[in-house]
Order: sequence, then structure tokens, then C-alpha cells
Amino acid sequence: MNGPSPQQLAHSGSLEQLYQQLGPIRMGAGWAKPTPSLWAEPKKTFQARSWSYAQAKGALDAAGRLINTELAERRNLILQNPAEGYATSRTIVAAYQMIMPGEKARSHRHTPNALRLIVDAEPGAFTIVNGERLSMMPGDVVLTPNWCWHGHGNDSRACAYWLDVLDVPLVQLLEPMFFEPHPDEFEKETVVANASPMHFPWQQTQARLEEAASRANGHAAEIALGDPALDTMALAMIALKPGQATSPRKVMANNVLGVVQGSGRTEVEGKELSWSRGDVIVVPAWQEHVHRSDGGAVLFRVTDEPVMRKLGFLREVH
Ligand SMILES: [Fe+2]
Repeated sequence: MNGPSPQQLAHSGSLEQLYQQLGPIRMGAGWAKPTPSLWAEPKKTFQARSWSYAQAKGALDAAGRLINTELAERRNLILQNPAEGYATSRTIVAAYQMIMPGEKARSHRHTPNALRLIVDAEPGAFTIVNGERLSMMPGDVVLTPNWCWHGHGNDSRACAYWLDVLDVPLVQLLEPMFFEPHPDEFEKETVVANASPMHFPWQQTQARLEEAASRANGHAAEIALGDPALDTMALAMIALKPGQATSPRKVMANNVLGVVQGSGRTEVEGKELSWSRGDVIVVPAWQEHVHRSDGGAVLFRVTDEPVMRKLGFLREVH
């Protein structure tokens, strides 16, 4: 037993003396905490904000000249919340990524769940997920769940740009991080996918949104992609007709949104964030928000609702 003896502790003559003896044995007096460990409501450490696709595209084009995919596992730009050096929200990180014509990004797998929303690409850009080649066209969503092999390639003549969304901050917090490069470096395409649960093509999404809008009684149409698509993240598409707004929401779940079409603004607790196609918006948990569009828009939303629901933490103000 290192540190003071039970008798020395028992005979502490003052609180000061007791605290001095507790320090080296890594015990803390719960009645004299420097900061409280419980509080009445979420602290809202993370900030609501938006990122410009036009700026990201410019920076990725520079990165295309300056680094190749051999140097970097992925050529991407991480969208960092001012609250933290890395994460976009407490549980979710988003990043823009670009792959040039003829390039390939090596296959790997990891425990974090990942998905991508394609922003600009021409036929020939693809992701291989567990041997299935999935095309990446604007508005498509492609999933690479926990421990699925995945790599990217671009046989088209144009650069392909997309938004990656991952639950890496949650995995870092809980610590089950595992990562493995593919033994063959580039995974071979072994299955020709007709329809894959890992792929949500834009044409299908658009048809479902139109159908949902016809039944929405003037409200913004919303559809889920998968149910839920991943263990930790739920995906939805929200269509706003010109002049439409979503109902105000205050929910204990983090939201990262990508603008699939159109432009508009998001009001979050007194802040106004303007956005247009390709931009990203983060609305952290427990911040009341409304999305509006004058000319019409489609938003892709990723939330950590499945985690909050499973753990009994999901609350919403009605
Ligand atoms: Fe990955």
C-alpha cells in the first residue's frame, strides 16, 4: 500500500490535511469538487455552424495538385467544430473528400460506421463495399457499416467530390477502435450489385420524396433511408418546397446535414446559417432549429438518434 496509512488518514487534523493526503492516492472528496459532475440540462458545448462546399472544392482542387492518394490514405477535409479540434459534433464527424480521374483509394475496414453523400461525380466514380461495386452519382448515399471493407475509384474523366460522415468521435469516446488495411491493397470487385442495401440511388430517393410530399399535407416531406441504416446513425432526406419550413425541433440528438439541392437557411437558437447545394450544417443536440427555403431544397440529415434512443437518452420538446 503506497501513500498514507489508514491511521494517518483517520487522524487528519483538518480538511486541508485530509485533501493533501487524498491527492497522491487518487481519491477526490465528492463534497469539494472543483466543477459539478451533474447539471440540469445539456451544456451545448458544440456550436451550430455551416461549411461552404465552394470553399471546400477550391481547397480539394489545391490538394489534388499537391498530394496524391498514395501519400494520404484519403484526400479529405475534416469539418471541425470550434468546440473541438477534430469532431463536427459530439458523436459524428463529417469531411469532404475528392478523388481524381484514374485514381484509386486503397481498401480498408474499421469499426467506425461511415457513409457518404455524393455531391459532384460523373458515371465511373465508385465505391467497392465488401466486393460490391456501387456507383456514386450526385445525391446518392453509400454506406460502409462497421467492419465492411471499402475503397473508392474513379474511372470517369471528372473529379468526384463527396461528403463523408462517420461516428468516429463516438468510437473514440467508447474506445472500440479497430482498423485494418486490405491485404491486397485494392479490393477486387467480386459481385455485380443490382440493388444493394448499402446504396441509396438519388433517382429512387427523389421518387420516394415526391410520393411523401403528396401525402404531407403541406408539411415538409421526410423519408428515412434504411431503418435505421446503421447501428449508430439514422439517415433521412427532407424536401422543402419553395417557401416551406420544417417544424421547430429541439431534440437530444446531434444532426449533421448536407444540402442535396437548392438553398435556404437554418435558424438555430437565434443564429441564422445560410446554405446552398453541397454545404454542410451541424445542429448539435438540444438546440431548437428550423430549416427554411425560399426556392425549394432537399437536405440529407444524419443523426445519432439510434444511440440516444437505445440508451434511453432521447428526449424531444413538443
Ligand atoms: Fe474508411
